[in-house]
Amino acid sequence: MDRDTELQLIDELLEIKASRTFYLDEGVTRSPVSRYISQERFDLEREHLFRQVPLIAAHVSELAEPGSFLRKNLAGLPVLLTRDKEGRANAFLNVCRHRGTQLVEAGSGCSHKFTCPYHAWTYSSAGKLIAAPHFKQGFTGEDKADYGLKRLMCEERHGFIWVRARGEGDVDIDGFLGGLGEELAALDIEDMFLASDETIEVEANWKLIVEGGIEAYHFKVAHRDTIGPFFEDNLSTYRIFGDHMRSILMRSSMARLAPDTREDWRLRDHAQVLYNLLPTSSLLVQQDHIAWIHAEPLGPAKTQLRLATLAPKAQAHRADHWAHNHQITKTTLMEDFVLNESMQKGIASGAIEYMTFGRFEGALDAYNRVVEGYLDQATALADAANPPARRNGGC
Ligand code: FES
Ligand SMILES: [Fe+2]
Repeated sequence: MDRDTELQLIDELLEIKASRTFYLDEGVTRSPVSRYISQERFDLEREHLFRQVPLIAAHVSELAEPGSFLRKNLAGLPVLLTRDKEGRANAFLNVCRHRGTQLVEAGSGCSHKFTCPYHAWTYSSAGKLIAAPHFKQGFTGEDKADYGLKRLMCEERHGFIWVRARGEGDVDIDGFLGGLGEELAALDIEDMFLASDETIEVEANWKLIVEGGIEAYHFKVAHRDTIGPFFEDNLSTYRIFGDHMRSILMRSSMARLAPDTREDWRLRDHAQVLYNLLPTSSLLVQQDHIAWIHAEPLGPAKTQLRLATLAPKAQAHRADHWAHNHQITKTTLMEDFVLNESMQKGIASGAIEYMTFGRFEGALDAYNRVVEGYLDQATALADAANPPARRNGGC
């Protein structure tokens, strides 16, 4: 983030606080509960959003050396990430081209050869079929070169490995980031390591979890026993960058900044800076580290969440400090997740047809509009390919 933007964001929050108001959108909006509970809707999101955009599959440190590999579940698909002998990161569907067995069972490891557990077809870390027992006799007329692993778009950018499950060709990650690329680059995520890393499951729709992170209305209430006292009441701002969002939550310490120290003001010391990268990776930028929250939706009411703490490699020796910070973040997030699970059961009861977003919860509507945009686009393309039958049946 450039210095002007950093100071503008601080000034904006200080002005809102001084005027005793909030960061308000135009009007109240509503979000139908069917978006959060329907299997049909979930299937559409998976196909037309999650499988169409680049997803953060891993931090670069997880695939650091040639030969390192990772098995992932990405947008509901089995994926194998490898770093080949040339040092290139690759993503493939983790599916044997013979009869479809999942090729790699281990979650991670180091190898340049992957042998299918069924009939021993063997692939290189670059995805080529390099051996198959009795191939010449049994597969007469077939060419091994046609049986490489199905390759997915894969790119390293800003310290992460991005993978897109569908579509040919490359993706311009910075273009996809809608102007956030420079800010992410400035975070030096590639020079960080995973100080803590864990996976949990939450019985709630993925959008409820995202929405819980982009409003400050709940902070003094739901987090009153943890970090609530360190933040202003209901004071956050947000900006949209393409399909993504940056929101800033004001710490109480910001209001105590002395004007004559303006040159030293640092946003991340006095606010929580949150990047929501569509669809479900969130980077919560703290004073000296980043909490990375990544969701893999498993169903309309079930989401797998990865909670990781990224810290500078140069400070790897501060293990206790990072573990302590991870625990604080996790404890706070668990307060959100318990409420998300409560909401999921609540909205599934039929008691309400829609959720109501107040004017200071405008970020929730903005995020939902982006998601709706992907689904609308898919519907429009389907209609163009298959025009709906003419109404009233006239000739
Ligand atoms: S299914 Fe993999 S070798 Fe047969
Ligand atoms: Fe929260």
